[in-house]
Amino acid sequence: MRVDGQPRRTLWPADGQDALYVIDQRQLPHRLAVERLDSVPAVLVAIRDMWVRGAPLIGATAAYGLALQARVDGCDAALQAAAAQLRTARPTAVNLAWALQRMLRRLLPLPPAERAVAAWQEAAALADEDVATNQAIGRHGLALLADLARRRPGPVRVLTHCNAGWLATVDWGTALAPVYQARAAGIDLQVWVDETRPRNQGASLTAWELAQQGVAHTLIADNAGGHLMQRGLVDIVIVGCDRVAANGDVCNKIGTYLKALAAREHGVPFHVAMPLSTLDLSLPDGLQIPIEERSARELTHITGRTAGGDVLEVQLAPDGCAAANPAFDVTPAAWVSGLITERGLVAARREALQALVERPA
Ligand code: MRU
Repeated sequence: MRVDGQPRRTLWPADGQDALYVIDQRQLPHRLAVERLDSVPAVLVAIRDMWVRGAPLIGATAAYGLALQARVDGCDAALQAAAAQLRTARPTAVNLAWALQRMLRRLLPLPPAERAVAAWQEAAALADEDVATNQAIGRHGLALLADLARRRPGPVRVLTHCNAGWLATVDWGTALAPVYQARAAGIDLQVWVDETRPRNQGASLTAWELAQQGVAHTLIADNAGGHLMQRGLVDIVIVGCDRVAANGDVCNKIGTYLKALAAREHGVPFHVAMPLSTLDLSLPDGLQIPIEERSARELTHITGRTAGGDVLEVQLAPDGCAAANPAFDVTPAAWVSGLITERGLVAARREALQALVERPA
């Protein structure tokens, strides 16, 4: 995607292959800051503390983390220990474990002397594949949006939750890839952006990246989505996902479940953009997915920019207020109109998902 007119990815390796550069998403939308990560502990902090976030981007960042490990010590034990450490950074998005597993499968059979070069190549391949995957998701999702555009005059009104745009991936995004491709195809669009409490990824990230790409959008409070659907003001909901179970249950950012519930009640199509790296066939249903519990401070405090330009954190809740902060929820497969994958649109059903992964690419 372009930022201030310049093409950019969310992460890129240093020329000397001794570090990884990432956009520090904690600073957006106020500042586009780039951080240099040069060790496994640095990568661990960047994922855990959400400098980088979004399931596919977490996976790609962790892959480069193993490449950094292979530079200093690529023996079996060192690689396995680094992977085990990185895997703990965030529990819900399965792309993290998937990417680490892919790196180990590629590296461990090689002689140790060849691992550093191979690790860097594999991480780069994984990042490039993420881009191609998201472009393909965009193409398949574009067909849905083009169909809606033909049905009624005026813009296609898309509602999205959290940030599943290019910032959440290496490039393009998952849920927003169809939006970007539809815009390029000249389809008139209007995106409702859920603010996405408590970390406000919608307000700070989705609104920022849609503005950068010139896509018309309107920020709404999380609680407004049901009202808009009831009034017939939403044509389609498209969200991303952090893990999809074998039966098609979808785990995504907290609040997704309520959007799906409202969409079902009001007959609004509810689609989930899902790269196959987010599918976890080892879990029979979504209730088995570990849900990340984050700090109470994300609820009791909020960060923003003052009129003077300083970024400050202020307290919202009474002193000592207890707060529970589950970061993800599970939407039942039956409420999902379709999964938009790199291999096309698929039903959120066990048999369909099994057939999809067994089908040659
Ligand atoms: O906690 P986050 O910001 O990492 O959560 C991100 C989401 O829930 C996204 O919707 C999901 O990862 C899909 S990203 C393409």
